[in-house]
Amino acid sequence: MSASSPLPLGLPPAASVDPGAFARDRAAVFARAWLCLGASAEWPVAGAAAAREQGGRSIVALRHTDGGLRAFANVCPHRAGPLLWPGEERPAGQGLRCRYHGWRFDQDGALVGTPDFDGQRVGASALAAGCRLSPLPTAEAAGLVWVWLGPGAPDRPAPSAAGPLAGALGALGLDHWRPRARASHPLACDWKVYVENYLEGYHIPYLHPGLGREIDMGGYAVEVDGDTVRHVVPTRPGAVNEGLWLWVWPNLAINVYGGACSIERMLPTGPGAARIDYVYLADDSVSDHAFAEMLRASATTTAEDVRIVEQVQRGLQDPAAAAGPLSPRHEAGLAHFHALLRAAWAGG
Ligand code: FES
Ligand SMILES: [Fe+2]
Repeated sequence: MSASSPLPLGLPPAASVDPGAFARDRAAVFARAWLCLGASAEWPVAGAAAAREQGGRSIVALRHTDGGLRAFANVCPHRAGPLLWPGEERPAGQGLRCRYHGWRFDQDGALVGTPDFDGQRVGASALAAGCRLSPLPTAEAAGLVWVWLGPGAPDRPAPSAAGPLAGALGALGLDHWRPRARASHPLACDWKVYVENYLEGYHIPYLHPGLGREIDMGGYAVEVDGDTVRHVVPTRPGAVNEGLWLWVWPNLAINVYGGACSIERMLPTGPGAARIDYVYLADDSVSDHAFAEMLRASATTTAEDVRIVEQVQRGLQDPAAAAGPLSPRHEAGLAHFHALLRAAWAGG
């Protein structure tokens, strides 16, 4: 941008506080993008299953005996009970059994059991045609699992091993790391407020004293590329953080530590409500002590961010709130996020 160009402005506050914002984003953003469910390593063997949140929906995914992944809405066709409880993981097994009345489904989502439904008169086979689990398109690339929520078929290519994202992640070696911890943090703010906060390091000196001591703000760089924003910053000796943060449209981030990373999903859960779900992966060579240090640093930074984003959500509801100017040096990632949002809202 030249010195005479007008500065980009933030989103109007209404975009994050209007009662209809959640429904609009669910339809325009989350039904029209490939969304990350987690790391492939979270489904290590055939029969492994887990319930995950994405785009305001609960999704159950399981590893098929053919080696691929299957995902379904975590909603039983009987009376909308869950196949797995929210966040529940099953290391191995066969098919899925509804937690409500015990209907059973095979690994392709077909109904195969309806215990005590009507004596022997109406069995699963009589109901099967109208009572399947709702399948969702999935993809696996760069060590991550992706899902398309629809309603239509995917209208853009799934992340692939040949794509730019895979290139960015390939160097990390995610495929060889295994999940070692998980954490979840509810947020009293719109998901976009949290994403905006993630997309700039401008606030680090004021909100994150521990992280601030690890990095050299003078070398902070923001790189915008397609559906991704990368933050690269030099670190000081002994830093737990590697100074590399990668965000992927619309709500995924990868935070890199030495030999480890967290996969951070910024989930809309309702109007003015969101949640961060982390899964922490590490190389086996990372010691328990080093891993615990990483968890501690992550928890501290997250608590500091939660505090500010919840206060910003309150600020956005104040009549004084306005769309202020964005820093060309530090907030280019926000301007890019907003451009992607506007395109999505316009149906692009
Ligand atoms: S809701 Fe699933 S068996 Fe009744
Ligand atoms: Fe932060």
